[in-house]
Amino acid sequence: MMMAFRPPLGWNSWNTFGDKISDALIREMADYMVSHGYRDAGYEYLVIDDCWSLRDRDAAGRLVPDPEKFPHGMKDLADYVHAKGLKFGMYSCAGVMTCAGYPSSYDHEFTDAETFASWGVDFLKYDFCNFPETGDCRTRYQTMSMALKSTGRDILFSACNWGQKDPWTWMRSAGAHMYRSTGDIMDNYVSFTDIFKSQLKNLSMSANGCFNDMDMLTVGMGGKGNVGFGKVCTYEEYRMQFALWCLCGVPLMMGADLRNLAPEYEALMKHPDLLRINQDEECRPPYPIRMGAVFTGNPDPKEGEMPWRSIPDSSYTLFRHLSGGEFALAFINFSEAETVIHLEMVDLGLPVASGFALRVKDVFTSEDLGRKSDYFNPKVPGHDMKLYLCRLEKANG
Ligand code: GAL
Repeated sequence: MMMAFRPPLGWNSWNTFGDKISDALIREMADYMVSHGYRDAGYEYLVIDDCWSLRDRDAAGRLVPDPEKFPHGMKDLADYVHAKGLKFGMYSCAGVMTCAGYPSSYDHEFTDAETFASWGVDFLKYDFCNFPETGDCRTRYQTMSMALKSTGRDILFSACNWGQKDPWTWMRSAGAHMYRSTGDIMDNYVSFTDIFKSQLKNLSMSANGCFNDMDMLTVGMGGKGNVGFGKVCTYEEYRMQFALWCLCGVPLMMGADLRNLAPEYEALMKHPDLLRINQDEECRPPYPIRMGAVFTGNPDPKEGEMPWRSIPDSSYTLFRHLSGGEFALAFINFSEAETVIHLEMVDLGLPVASGFALRVKDVFTSEDLGRKSDYFNPKVPGHDMKLYLCRLEKANG
């Protein structure tokens, strides 16, 4: 069975807990993923990030779980996670020390891969801190890829070199199943919108088997936890983050404390249409139509005038081909002011003369907006977006 056939889904400890991780926490999170229906919605990987080991390797040169945090060892914990029908993920780093100063896998790749496999690890996040200046980044990710393969176990390789050396051009060929393309996400609006804007142009290399990883979600964290810097997001901003990650077809690794998550965020991250868009098996990236087209209010202007004016970066209109004849259409308003965004249907390949229209359903409200042809002008509040699922229909059928 191919690994990462579709964008991997799961939960990771870093965003909320940082170094405050333990056996009990991971078991509770596993329980929650099952009892609250995350597993059944498709979230499969439960990943322990940095700070799980002792500061020193043992006499045999092996990594050792911190016995205070993980008193039953990793194999026992992995067995528990597996018994819940989930997959177990862990973390190491391509440098000589992890970002938090724990031993990592430079020159220990094959030993560590074997250790992880012996514990029943299914997913390895592989970071880039403290990488020697003389080291070759590509070679070392390739080395860990080979080390994981040498174990004979299916271990999803989640490379995390923060976008160094344009990983979208080579991580797929180095055997990674996903690759972090940016620095760390912080729990605020500017952070996630910057990540999205920086990666939109790189998404055509993100598809079955190897995905661009725009980092773990902060949805629902509300400024609490390890990456809570800046202004706390509103519900609409978190909804935008989740919907953008879905629209981009990138991995969804939840970062909030699921045990204390408000019900609206739980519902958002299990939203069937959003997950269906994220998991669409064709893995096509969204097609940018027009950036910053603000409707003037007059759809039928005088000769030589346009029904829209351009305010660069204020809004994006994106269109994504899905399987089965469906499309996703997004109007994203990055500005603070409510904006009427302007789309000419001819710009997405539907001239009036085609005789075809798009039948449009609002993903967030499930409302059927009927057929749209010629032009479409949704009103989008500031820092919010509209997301539609569409199908082709005869304009006058
Ligand atoms: C960063 C990485 C984060 C987290 C952290 C742990 O380099 O991007 O996602 O893993 O290290 O120290």
